[in-house]
Amino acid sequence: MCGIAGIAGIHDIRQALTTALERLEYRGYDSAGMAIHSAGGIDVRKSVGSVATLAATLPPEPVPGSGIAHTRWATHGAPSTRNAHPHLSYDASIAIVHNGTIRNIAELRGELDDLGVSAVSDTDSEVLAHLVAWHRGQGADTETALRLALARVDGDYAVLVIAADRPGTLVAAADGSPLLIGVDGRAVHIASDRAALASECTHYSHVLDGEVVTITTAVPAGRDWKPASRESGWQGKGSYPNFLLKEINDQPRTTRAAISALFSPIAPGSPADWSATLDRPSIKRVRFLGCGSSYYAGEVSASFVEQLARVPAAAEPAAEFIQRRPVVEPDCLYVLISQSGETLDTLHAHRYLRRHPVQTLSFVNVVGSSLDRDSGASIHLRADKEVSVASTKVVTNMQIAGLALAAWLARADYGARSAELLELDLALPILPTILADLLAGKDAEIRAAAESVHAYRSMYYLGRGASWPVAREGAQKIKEISYIHAEAYQSSELKHGPLALVDPEHVSVVVAANDDSGNQDATLVSQIQARAGNVVVFSQHQTCEFGATTIRLPAIHPLLDHIVMGVALQLFAYHTATILDRDVDRPRNLAKSVTVE
Ligand code: F6R
Repeated sequence: MCGIAGIAGIHDIRQALTTALERLEYRGYDSAGMAIHSAGGIDVRKSVGSVATLAATLPPEPVPGSGIAHTRWATHGAPSTRNAHPHLSYDASIAIVHNGTIRNIAELRGELDDLGVSAVSDTDSEVLAHLVAWHRGQGADTETALRLALARVDGDYAVLVIAADRPGTLVAAADGSPLLIGVDGRAVHIASDRAALASECTHYSHVLDGEVVTITTAVPAGRDWKPASRESGWQGKGSYPNFLLKEINDQPRTTRAAISALFSPIAPGSPADWSATLDRPSIKRVRFLGCGSSYYAGEVSASFVEQLARVPAAAEPAAEFIQRRPVVEPDCLYVLISQSGETLDTLHAHRYLRRHPVQTLSFVNVVGSSLDRDSGASIHLRADKEVSVASTKVVTNMQIAGLALAAWLARADYGARSAELLELDLALPILPTILADLLAGKDAEIRAAAESVHAYRSMYYLGRGASWPVAREGAQKIKEISYIHAEAYQSSELKHGPLALVDPEHVSVVVAANDDSGNQDATLVSQIQARAGNVVVFSQHQTCEFGATTIRLPAIHPLLDHIVMGVALQLFAYHTATILDRDVDRPRNLAKSVTVE
């Protein structure tokens, strides 16, 4: 994990690297550091905590020069200044920042010990600094020294090196972790993602796996440059107090963008685009693979595929899929789902599948990410940049992509359009307006419900059928940002064990879809209340009485209920967390892009 950035030759390296780090903070925020190479040599600054804490330690005046920077999510070694990057080599001749994991760390540390070089930090990355310096000491130039050091590494990396004897030059390498070069006509930038490249960058290019690139102020020659569009760049949080609330409120706009592309017969991103390489007749089943919230979006998508297209479908966490060394079914379409397109578990699942003659499709938000580039066919989720660590607007668009896939499978099968597909076509354009109504019209009621539960320490989220993954995602959201323990169960399972924990200190959130299970949900509520448990119902039923605090959500076609309920649960988690005064954009222990196993 972690985010790295570097810039060659700029009038204020201190400010430019701080801005890049702020944009990378979602990848980890337990410590940060910077190595600036100016007229005075290499100056390394590090601090525990946010980039703002690091920025406070920097010189107040502009510093011309080059440099590298890092924001960390701890894997080896606790968050501390000692473990923060950049790491200096034993002879202080070079500084290094690294994103990734070095698996053979014990072996490399042993080899360095034999050379009389001891590590001062607990990190895996520090060994790279010493190895590069040692090879330079044997006469190699920095590029060759980096190649020789990396040849010894078993792991994934994106790495940047500056050397005291080469002002104005950075050496970069990547394998399995993203790294992009951007040019703006004056300086050359390099970073873990596009948003962290300066907004002035007009073109960008990926550092390919296995490549070692020397960066100076001159535009690197012979690269595949792509124009940097504005949408992929950084957007602020506007007048919102945090990115999470902004992103929840973005959803009327971002769902509209996804619907108009993914359901259009002609627009870029239409089924004609992403299905061009798929062979519908040979798809007899669908399996969705993703991690965390993306896996839950896969579960909702699987239910769309079964309901609309009557094609068997299931979802599985990407890492578990690999773990069980699965039988890859030739008639199955495997769908990889990822916001970032950089989640290592999902990338590993994709790489495993690519070794088999099987059809794959990706749902991905970050265009040009590793998963997107590795995929023959991708549905781009069109939710714009998502900054807050807890995923909201992208999870919603993942479900819209699931619907688009389900509709495509169904259309190709029925030939003529079924009544259900026609109903969906009519209901979908209304979804953004329904979400806008929900966000504006139900906010106070949802906040009041959050007020009533925020002091409890444990919650159940209960759903049945396709509401079950909605409940799982709801529980995930509240855990992540409020730190209240929450567990999701199928409503029908409550009486088979979990009911034992229900008491006056416990809250159950019931997710009630507008199907024929209204009476069952009412019974569920009474069973909880009979044990003096507290209940909040999020209901798409417009009439059913539950005898408990009930937030009635705006009516829509039953297939879209789950998307609306998901957004309501996001808002509920948001309010609960802000009442508890949590840092909702940067929950403890988490990072947005999980690029380690
Ligand atoms: C939860 C959350 C995570 C991600 C998961 C996969 O709010 O954001 O559970 O969904 O880490 O990330 P992506 O979608 O980038 O592969």
